[in-house]
Amino acid sequence: MLRALACFEVLDEVAPGTYGRGRHAGALATDGPASMLHLVQLFAGREVWRSWGELVETVRTGVPAWDLVTGTSAVEGLAADPDLQADFNRAMAEGTRRAAPGVAAAGGFERFSSVVDVGGGDGTLLAAVLTAHPHLRGTVFDTPDGAREAERALAGAGVADRATVATGDFFEAVPPGADAYLVKSVVHDWDDERATLLLRRVREAARPDSVLLVVEPLMPPTLAGRPDALAMVMSDVNMLVWTTGRARTEAELGQVITGAGFDVRSVTPAPGSTYSVVEAVPRPGS
Ligand SMILES: C[S@@+](CC[C@H](N)C(=O)[O-])C[C@H]1O[C@@H](n2cnc3c(N)ncnc32)[C@H](O)[C@@H]1O
Repeated sequence: MLRALACFEVLDEVAPGTYGRGRHAGALATDGPASMLHLVQLFAGREVWRSWGELVETVRTGVPAWDLVTGTSAVEGLAADPDLQADFNRAMAEGTRRAAPGVAAAGGFERFSSVVDVGGGDGTLLAAVLTAHPHLRGTVFDTPDGAREAERALAGAGVADRATVATGDFFEAVPPGADAYLVKSVVHDWDDERATLLLRRVREAARPDSVLLVVEPLMPPTLAGRPDALAMVMSDVNMLVWTTGRARTEAELGQVITGAGFDVRSVTPAPGSTYSVVEAVPRPGS
């Protein structure tokens, strides 16, 4: 095991048979800025691990392996297991913490007074955006389970006086009338039909001059010359295994956004991350 961890540079063989911390050790630390412990625990946890074993069945049938293995969808499975849901929330926050400053810089938030983070989870992203833009007020919108830690996270970041938490179902309705709607790592969880429906709910909540900011890693149209795409491609297969979602190319994501009644205006890479901010505006009459 120690040798295996050394091969992945989690440990470093400092002398024959003696191991110290390797350059990726921080990823498995219980805390600290580089920690990805909960992401690792989620993706190597029982449900996802067993689901990978049914990948072939998923490729054949299109049914997420999670559903085949557990007899229920990942959404229902998380809702039924508070510990798993808490691990999931922490894992999402770990993934978002690194990307958040780049998203806060690339989103053009200077223009806005109010923002709703749709599917905003524990508020990690909203906290970073409000910290970077002290004039801004914001709302985290998520399910009651998804947003369970949000008030604490926003208070911990010192932005509670400018933030609220709202709960509900984004397939039904989202809070109306914000200047900007931020939707990070949510569209890629769903197939085209569900993804379009949730953005349509944002369209219904938006004012004519509101702005939609969809934040996701974009799949390159070709992998030729893109060895750096490995992590995104594997994350895409991981989504195939346990959700009906997928990583989309700019054109594919654009189609979903357009189908929901928005026009795409720009695509801006978020510095220091693999994410892009796709900005869109409501299409008049849609
Ligand atoms: C992949 S996580 C992304 C969380 C956060 N935006 C981030 O980037 O860290 C997807 C989020 O969507 C939320 N979600 C899933 N279904 C939802 C629904 N029907 N209504 C509202 N939120 C939902 C989940 O609770 C979760 O927080």
